[in-house]
Amino acid sequence: MQIETITTHPYNDQNPGTSGLRKKVKVFQQPGYLENFVQSIFDSLHDFSGKTLVLGGDGRYFNRPAIQIIIKMAAANGFGKIIIGQGGLLSTPAASHIIRKYNAFGGLILSASHNPGGPDEDFGIKYNIGNGGPAPEKDTTAFYLRSLNIDSYKMAHIEDIDLDSIGTIQIDDLSIAIIDPVTDYAELMQSIFDFNLLKQSIGSGYITLLFDAMHAITGPYAKRILVDMLGATSDSVINAEPLEDFGGHHPDPNLAHAKELAERMFGPAAPVFGAASDGDGDRNMITGSNIFVTPSDSLAIMAANAHLIPAYAQELRGVARSMPTSQAVDRVAACYNIPCYETPTGWKFFGNLLDAGKITLCGEESFGTGSDHVREKDGLWAVLFWLNLIARKRQSVADIVHEHWQKFGRDIYCRHDYEAVEMDIANGIVEHLRSQLPALPGQTFGEYTVKYADEFSYEDPIDGSISSNQGIRIGFENGSRIIFRLSGTGTVGATLRIYLERFEADASKHDQDAQSALAELINLAEQFCEIKKRTGRIEPDVVT
Ligand code: G1P
Ligand code: ZN
Repeated sequence: MQIETITTHPYNDQNPGTSGLRKKVKVFQQPGYLENFVQSIFDSLHDFSGKTLVLGGDGRYFNRPAIQIIIKMAAANGFGKIIIGQGGLLSTPAASHIIRKYNAFGGLILSASHNPGGPDEDFGIKYNIGNGGPAPEKDTTAFYLRSLNIDSYKMAHIEDIDLDSIGTIQIDDLSIAIIDPVTDYAELMQSIFDFNLLKQSIGSGYITLLFDAMHAITGPYAKRILVDMLGATSDSVINAEPLEDFGGHHPDPNLAHAKELAERMFGPAAPVFGAASDGDGDRNMITGSNIFVTPSDSLAIMAANAHLIPAYAQELRGVARSMPTSQAVDRVAACYNIPCYETPTGWKFFGNLLDAGKITLCGEESFGTGSDHVREKDGLWAVLFWLNLIARKRQSVADIVHEHWQKFGRDIYCRHDYEAVEMDIANGIVEHLRSQLPALPGQTFGEYTVKYADEFSYEDPIDGSISSNQGIRIGFENGSRIIFRLSGTGTVGATLRIYLERFEADASKHDQDAQSALAELINLAEQFCEIKKRTGRIEPDVVT
């Protein structure tokens, strides 16, 4: 195999965010841009000669050419085997599983998750380590530092690979395996959930369901598992065909973007269960007939009922949530007397806790839930978890949620996003917030007295690493919280996320609409951050 060393010049913007490097496709198409970042990753890793790399993406525009480039670079840099999903496709949780199952050295996942796709939209790449999870901060920092000094990258002279035919190709010492992207993952799901019970419940019509794949990666996975294996009708999976531009939509599973699903679930003759997943299959939105389950509640309900799922029946070691996720799961952990960890935003912070066996379930308010079965959040896993719960409890989604609130109380929750805010304004808001923090504790605003006001910092209990500046928190005496964070996944300007949360113990008040119940906190948030005043906007772009 002939290997060429190609001279390049560094780009100064290859600092990975919350989940890998995300940029506009046009940025990635600049000469050497993708190559520089991939070489920076390889240069920062050690001892992978002859080992296995897993490679796949969510199928968005630029996926295929990027895969061909990475194959040539992985070959030139000495990997012995590359495992690739057929068509260059792998959902993020499936990639995580395949890395683990085949003892790969690591994997490259090409995705910008829920961001839109197409020639003028977003692309992304992230590296996952041998445990199947996103590279920790010390690695992503090393990738970035290397990218600032890189002067060459390596490419092997090999033909483009046929990504569509399953089988193994041998080129000198390198073997390239094109695998079915669904089979291993489907087997894993079968080992976790009660597929016989699910078949009965779905086959008998007790559970009717609707899954919106949003023209993204989960279409083939949902068809195989929900339709072929569990007997759901073929029209139960909508927007099932993965498209390079996701049909022109944001493949973001929330009520705003999964419109068709939302209309059906809140319309007449709604199915018992409805769900959607995102571009790369790691997020989930859970709904039932006439009810939307917030991701924070979903995590808490899963934890409270995990004993009903075969894989978790024996033991729930502990749980974890990202800091802005509501405290609903904390109440379950306290009641079950198991530990609950609070981590910064981003799945990479759960990896050490999962590896050390400290937690079984974890989740984020951003439509992400998962368990120790892989090292990523997992959309279809969450869907199967809920289906299994409905089948076991023989209750509707609404009944399961209300029963949970009755027992634990309700953490009324919502998030307001202001997108594409000018960087200067966003930085000004953060500075303004910071300047108020020291004076806030003890001050009272209506029924809210500030208990603490700080910037979240996390010390990893396993490796002792410290991550600072992970969001501004204002906590009140009654347990309510307002949190402010700048997104680390956007590609245009800055996105300010405001997370609002208030606990309601009184069951007669559980049926309130979240926006009204949180109105006073929403006003307080504006008073603190002045986003409307400083941008002239009148409302958030997205409310979830
Ligand atoms: C967002 C979510 C975060 C999630 C990440 C990747 O990151 O808020 O919880 O882990 O996407 O899916 P953010 O844009 O807020 O940095
Ligand atoms: Zn995603």
